[in-house]
Amino acid sequence: MPNRKKFIGANWKMNAAPVGWDASDSPYFSMSNIDVVVFPTSIDLRMCTQKKLSVGAQYGRPETAGAFTGDIAMQEIRAVGCTHVLCGHSERRQHHEESDEMISKQVISALQCGLIPLLCIGENADQREMGETKEVLAQQLLAVSNVEGMIVAYEPVWAIGTGKTPTAPEANETHAFIRSLLKDKNTRILYGGSMNSANAAEFLAQPEIDGGLIGGASLKPEEFRKIVDVARAS
Ligand code: PGA
Repeated sequence: MPNRKKFIGANWKMNAAPVGWDASDSPYFSMSNIDVVVFPTSIDLRMCTQKKLSVGAQYGRPETAGAFTGDIAMQEIRAVGCTHVLCGHSERRQHHEESDEMISKQVISALQCGLIPLLCIGENADQREMGETKEVLAQQLLAVSNVEGMIVAYEPVWAIGTGKTPTAPEANETHAFIRSLLKDKNTRILYGGSMNSANAAEFLAQPEIDGGLIGGASLKPEEFRKIVDVARAS
């Protein structure tokens, strides 16, 4: 088995931190044998870093300061003690029209600021149906395939928040394809999209799947704890 540390991300999206998130036995704390990182709203970043969780932002802007109402800068994210930042989540691509070019600038800027970028890529339902998945992923990776130090999350758009998923072997094959495009073969590649405590073991047993980015199921602490336990055991 490859020696890549498992990573479980809790993407809370535009939701309040789950009740009990900061209790001493909360499943949201990172542990020695796996990375657990929470991605709260921008407003909650400082609250979470102050309680010593490993924290990432859901978005960061490459410019250091200026007339960008409503945005936050990578530098600021680092300054409040975050270690990670999501780049190119499909909801940002969709609702904020983020292009691959903008997203690649975010990835580079995050690394320059000392943050680990977690680049999200994935095909939508139409693209999958047309057999274009590999083409879409290759395009989304094109500008950053030489970058070292990032994490990639394969998140098929049709699987996010829908309860639908590819089979674990299908996802594994897609991860292997993604890895074949990356210069750094040790890059961790996470699966995201309706991962939960019932399917986590199957996904995390796949040799190419190095962890998960969890949305809905990360808002329920006991459900999330089960996923973390599976990741620790796998
Ligand atoms: P989901 O979201 O687990 O609710 O499908 C995953 C994500 O958007 O990162």
